Amino acid sequence: MLDTFKGLIEAGSKEDDLLKNIDLKSLPVHVAVIMDGNGRWAKRQGLPRAEGHKKGAATARLITETAARLGIKYLTLFAFSSENWKRPVTEINTLMDMLHENMVSRRDLLIDNRIRLKVIGDLKRLPGKLKRKLQETEDVTSGFDRMQINLALNYGARAEIVHAVKTMLENGVAPSKVNEQVLSSYLYTGGCPDPDLVVRTSGEKRISNFLLFQIAYSELYFTDVFWPDFDIAAFFDAVIDFQHRKRRFGSL
Ligand code: IPE
Ligand code: IPE
Ligand code: MG
Repeated sequence: MLDTFKGLIEAGSKEDDLLKNIDLKSLPVHVAVIMDGNGRWAKRQGLPRAEGHKKGAATARLITETAARLGIKYLTLFAFSSENWKRPVTEINTLMDMLHENMVSRRDLLIDNRIRLKVIGDLKRLPGKLKRKLQETEDVTSGFDRMQINLALNYGARAEIVHAVKTMLENGVAPSKVNEQVLSSYLYTGGCPDPDLVVRTSGEKRISNFLLFQIAYSELYFTDVFWPDFDIAAFFDAVIDFQHRKRRFGSL
């Protein structure tokens, strides 16, 4: 078994078998995840939606650790969209409180695994207390390079593109200097390679305004599993499925 997984998965387990089917030399460099289905998971268990978000946060921690141990270099997690403000204020408050709590308790996970945190999205609208905690965690982890986690918060891809264009104009970038690479460098994900694999849980087959520019040639993987039930085996399944795809990028 891959040494890094000792202690997390058992020899001879289902996860161990799946791991043997992963080609470690052709891993997706960047995996982006639309973590969906917390509410439906809770409803199915007869629990309040908040319980789904709580279990979903635990899943996010588990998948972060799994991805880092496997050798994924970039993991982007869609945690709160710019459209999620349409939800009841009580749910929004629960989510913001939970994100704050996670930034406190997840810090060790990031430090122990040498994971760098980068927050992507329009942070202006987030509560000040959360913003400060995010900034602190970004600073503390800025020297780590085992894996980078992009946490998408108040993130919307169209708004991101508009923001990038505005910033280019403000910086006086000449029209003749604008090309795909330059625009890409002005996105919140600037400097990060485009996702190779996008995973969406919960059975919905849509992108919901996530990374529109960056996923032009990403492989899309949809699973019916609700995010709180997404586990190490489910993550390995997605990677194995990805490794069976034939990426052509327009060529033959
Ligand atoms: C994903 O789960 C978490 C967020 C969007 C914040 P949902 O809350 O969207 O769960 P469903 O889609 O209602 O089941
Ligand atoms: C997408 O999920 C956003 C996140 C996972 C954070 P939603 O639940 O908000 O997406 P829609 O509304 O079903 O498209
Ligand atoms: Mg949803």
